[in-house]
Amino acid sequence: MKKVVKILAIVAVAILIGLQFFRPEKNNEGYESVAAFEAETKPSAKLVQVLKDNCYDCHSNETDYPWYAQVAPLSLWLDEHIQHGKSHFNVSEWNSYSLKKKAHKIEEVIEVVEKDEMPLPSYEIMHGDLSSKDKQLLLTWANMVSLKYNQGQIPAQ
Ligand code: HEC
Repeated sequence: MKKVVKILAIVAVAILIGLQFFRPEKNNEGYESVAAFEAETKPSAKLVQVLKDNCYDCHSNETDYPWYAQVAPLSLWLDEHIQHGKSHFNVSEWNSYSLKKKAHKIEEVIEVVEKDEMPLPSYEIMHGDLSSKDKQLLLTWANMVSLKYNQGQIPAQ
């Protein structure tokens, strides 16, 4: 029995080591990639920080990786969230969205933040919750931006 446990432990360690060779490509294009989004939707400096700390890691082409993100299988799991999050909503590709899609994405932002669906709960465990003050700041801005899209005030003529 002891021998079996030892063999299983060796196999588990070998798998963990083997996994380290699978290194997902880093999502680090730089914060310049969000410039067009911020220029158009004009979040305040304080809100930019909130977005950076709570949303951009999975919804832009620039992720601020925590140290533990280097180690598989966590690195693979985080990369899955990043790719999945970006496929739904990516502020680094803002200008490739139509006006209609932009307006719709901002409406979704309001919805998921109001319902506390975002940031993902697993993310909040490591990064802390979105405070109610920051949540309010985000919602006030998103409602304003949504109104502007719906009234044709963005892009400015
Ligand atoms: C840890 C990664 C992660 C973080 C951080 C995160 N999201 Fe997401 N987000 C996702 C994933 C994954 C999805 C796709 C979810 C799904 O299909 O259920 C998603 C989906 C969305 C969507 C699209 C919803 C839809 O119906 O298509 C919006 C909008 C969104 N997130 C906004 C935000 C905002 C705003 C923040 C910050 C307050 C945030 N997210 C933080 C990973 C993240």
